[in-house]
Amino acid sequence: MPLKIRPATDADGPPIGFIGREAFRDSLSKSLFPPHLHAKSKTGDVRLDEAQWRATRAVRRMNEGKPTFVVVDVPQDKTSAEVVVGFAQWELPFQPTSSNRVVNEAAKDPVPATLDTECFQEMYDIMDIETNKALGPDGHSKMWYLMLLAVDPNHHRRGIGKLLMQHGICLAAQDGKDAFLIATPEGRGLYKSVGFSQIGEAFMMGDLPHYSMLWRRPASTLV
Ligand SMILES: CC(C)(COP(=O)(O)OP(=O)(O)OC[C@H]1O[C@@H](n2cnc3c(N)ncnc32)[C@H](O)[C@@H]1OP(=O)(O)O)[C@@H](O)C(=O)NCCC(=O)NCCS
Repeated sequence: MPLKIRPATDADGPPIGFIGREAFRDSLSKSLFPPHLHAKSKTGDVRLDEAQWRATRAVRRMNEGKPTFVVVDVPQDKTSAEVVVGFAQWELPFQPTSSNRVVNEAAKDPVPATLDTECFQEMYDIMDIETNKALGPDGHSKMWYLMLLAVDPNHHRRGIGKLLMQHGICLAAQDGKDAFLIATPEGRGLYKSVGFSQIGEAFMMGDLPHYSMLWRRPASTLV
C-alpha cells in the first residue's frame, strides 16, 4: 500500500501508543515496566497500561505544540481506513530560562502503577546530562530535537523511518535550525543515513548504549 506522511491528530493517540509499545518492547520497555510491578496493574494488562500511557503522553505533547507526524498506509480501495504505521514527535527550539532548562518531561503525565518511575526519571536525567555534555549549557534549545521516533515492527525496513526523518530535517532547515537527538542502537543506522553525526555516547537502564547525534543544516540554508 502507498505511504503518506501527515501531521498527527488527537485521534492518532491510540495507534501511536500501540506502535511505541511494540517498537520498544525488547529494549526500553523491559526496564520501564519491570516484571515485579506487573501485579500492580489496574487494568490487569501491563501492555495495555503502557499503550495508554504512551498515547496520553503523545497527545499531551501534541497539544503543547510539539510537531508530530504520522506515516499511514493508504488503502487502495476507498472502503478501508488508513493505518498508522509510524510516527515522529519533535520539540521546537525554545528560549532557555532557569525553569525550562531541565524540562521535567518524566513527571508531566499520570503514570500507571506498573511504570518504574525512578527508572524513568533516571533516563531523563541521563539524557539531560548527555545533551549538555554534547551541546553545552543551552542544550538543544536552539535546535529541532527529536523526542521520539517509532515504526510498527511489522513495517520495518519499508523506508517509513527515513520518510519521517527527512520530513523533520527539511522543516528544521526551512526554520534555519540544526537538529539533535539521542539514538537507540537500532535508530543509529537510520540517522546516519539521513546525515546525522555521532557526537557522544551514554548508557541507560544499566547497559543500553545510546548515542547523541547532530544534524547540521546545509550551508545554503544558513541564516
Ligand atoms: C529505528 C526505526 C525507527 C527504523 O525504522 P524503519 O522504518 O524500519 O527504517 P527505514 O526502513 O526507513 O530504514 C532506512 C535506513 O536506515 C537504516 N536502518 C534502519 N533500521 C536499521 C537497523 N535496525 N539497523 C541498522 N540500520 C538500520 C538502513 O540504512 C535503512 O536503509 P535500508 O533498509 O535501505 O538498509 C525502527 O527500527 C524502530 O522503530 N525501532 C524501535 C524504536 C527505536 O529504536 N526508535 C529510535 C529511537 S531514537
